Amino acid sequence: MLTNLFNKLFVLIFVFGSLSISAEQVLVTGGAGFIGSHVVVELLEDNHNVILVDRILRHGTADIPSRIREIAGEKGINLFVANVDLLNAKDVDSLFQHKNIDAVIHLAGLKSVSESVKNPLLYYTNNIISTLNLLNSMEKHGVRKLVFSSSATVYGNPPTSEPIRENFPLNAVNPYGQTKLIIEKLLMDLVNADKIKNLSNVDEKPWRIVSLRYFNPIGAHDSGKIGDFQDPPNNVMPYIFEVLMGKRSAFTIFGCNYPTPDKTAVRDYVHVVDLAAGHEAALQFLNGDEGRGFAAFNLGTGRGISVMQLALAIQSAINNKFKDKGLQFSFSCADARPGDVPTSFTDPSLAKEKLRWQASYNLDRMIEDSINWALKNPEWFTSVH
Ligand code: UD1
Repeated sequence: MLTNLFNKLFVLIFVFGSLSISAEQVLVTGGAGFIGSHVVVELLEDNHNVILVDRILRHGTADIPSRIREIAGEKGINLFVANVDLLNAKDVDSLFQHKNIDAVIHLAGLKSVSESVKNPLLYYTNNIISTLNLLNSMEKHGVRKLVFSSSATVYGNPPTSEPIRENFPLNAVNPYGQTKLIIEKLLMDLVNADKIKNLSNVDEKPWRIVSLRYFNPIGAHDSGKIGDFQDPPNNVMPYIFEVLMGKRSAFTIFGCNYPTPDKTAVRDYVHVVDLAAGHEAALQFLNGDEGRGFAAFNLGTGRGISVMQLALAIQSAINNKFKDKGLQFSFSCADARPGDVPTSFTDPSLAKEKLRWQASYNLDRMIEDSINWALKNPEWFTSVH
């Protein structure tokens, strides 16, 4: 009898103990996308409850949540999926009404530079209205912790080929970049408004906002279940996948006359799993003393890699690690893509100091995980959707 009572007491202590350390419930917009899906996995693995919001309408992304659950194993139970379009303010608000949300990671948005130049209204409408709907609901329901998915694009054409620091001038050079910049300015205004408000009402929490300016995310989860998919491709890796899988005959290097050591453009490629960990680090930063207000951090390795170096590393991977897979890869030079900058890589020291985050995967690993993803999901890169 006494033992029985003792056992019950033990169970109660255990249950309450684990409740008290249970992590936050985080809403991730764009959670079925390339970066979003990796962020959701990272959060689940760190014991968060996650609400994944996405317009899961695009061909094939509907099974991303189940792939995420497969990776997360028993922690997948903490994932809730909402097929919500952020352009629908009522649906967004209903989500905040019915779910206890502690923090938001906002990744949803259109991201093709060339498409944004051709159709600016689509970009301004989609990226800005969806963010306004989200922020209005956050404000209304007292959810004031936000990690925003920004981009190195906010630096426009950097004034020098030095590593880019967060205090460099901000300047967008295309409609997509403008939407990122406008949203960053809007977030700074929210924080400025807090400064002139009297926040003595204990229910009114101050905004805590981090903007993460990504450099060039590549790679994929090593399970090969989630990765980058774009149809048609906009970024370098999806182009390379189509060459490897035989849909495209050769890889085109955009520009071989840049003022760089091998004359091809230099970028800061960062493994998407490292990038995902940066979001967890940003959430922790928001909960600390310095988290109040607005802060921006660059996420990259700090190492510049040229397109030529990338192409050679792909060739080396298919001749060594993947030599039995029958992959083909050749490349040639073509004109530079309009709007591309010669060099873009970060000074990673601020993220290291304040977020305690730094990239850990090297280029070979990024390429290995990228090719593994493409090989496991040939349907993404061989057929026309
Ligand atoms: C681009 C956008 C940037 C956006 C980011 C993520 C531009 C000018 N910049 O960055 O605003 O935040 O994507 O969506 O579009 N390359 C080739 N051949 C190819 C494809 C790419 O040589 O077939 C080169 C590019 O010229 C560039 C590098 O590969 O030097 C990386 O290209 P990409 O992945 O498109 O990223 P960014 O152009 O750096």
